Amino acid sequence: MLTLQEQLLYFWLSAFWAEGAGEIVDLGCFAGGSTARLAEGAQAAGLKSGLHGFDRFTAHERAKEGLLYANGVAPFEGEDILPLARQLLAPWGKRITLHRGEIDQMTWAGGPIEILAMDASKRAETGDRMAASFLPHLIAGRSLLVQQDLLHWSQPWVVAQMELLSAYFRPLAHVERDTVVYLCVADPDPTAIAIAQTAELSDEEVFDLIKSAQARFASLGWGLTERLEQMVLGLLANPGQRAAHRFKRP
Ligand SMILES: C[S@@+](CC[C@H](N)C(=O)[O-])C[C@H]1O[C@@H](n2cnc3c(N)ncnc32)[C@H](O)[C@@H]1O
Repeated sequence: MLTLQEQLLYFWLSAFWAEGAGEIVDLGCFAGGSTARLAEGAQAAGLKSGLHGFDRFTAHERAKEGLLYANGVAPFEGEDILPLARQLLAPWGKRITLHRGEIDQMTWAGGPIEILAMDASKRAETGDRMAASFLPHLIAGRSLLVQQDLLHWSQPWVVAQMELLSAYFRPLAHVERDTVVYLCVADPDPTAIAIAQTAELSDEEVFDLIKSAQARFASLGWGLTERLEQMVLGLLANPGQRAAHRFKRP
């Protein structure tokens, strides 16, 4: 599911950015593609940090065919992909812990997080709960938050959330296709978590936040204006919708 640039980014972040100041956490790891790149980087750097992949670890037939069998995984019965993820991540051994469940119902008690990758905010309300559970464990001035779907046209609440949190997170890098990396610049305290709630925002408020992101990214010279226009068109075609899988292409 990752572009080559995203794969390289994940490796680079754990190999060259991380210093062992906290754990490396991957929210929405599917069969372990993103987790494997993070683990390989951590291993190359000799880091002691643990890696944690969170997911419900299920895949329906269409996902199995399009994403797994198409990439060489042998066909298997049922929807459970936890055994497959364990098998694919076996080369990195005990370094990786997999946490199965609905991430938005889970909490984190593993100490500081140095790199947090988010790719499971597929509904505004679940993304809000994940932010509340995991962001408070980031370290100001050190931790990175990787939003793998920030620019995806069908998840405007993700960019809205990061705009609401602009006093706490500064955009550092954009990587094709949809990833934006943020540096945590202030401790995400209870005020931040209250600010980061997007599920009750009106479409007008989300449009304003997308515009604000457009200006922010333009000032960085990232040229993402058209990508964010696609997001505006996506929301205009799906008024009030807050679940990515229900979005219909404009
Ligand atoms: C696009 S895939 C992740 C791909 C992975 N990051 C990679 O690049 O290899 C998104 C994953 O998020 C998971 N997910 C979405 N919402 C979730 C939730 N509320 N609880 C648990 N898993 C969730 C799905 O099961 C799916 O595996």
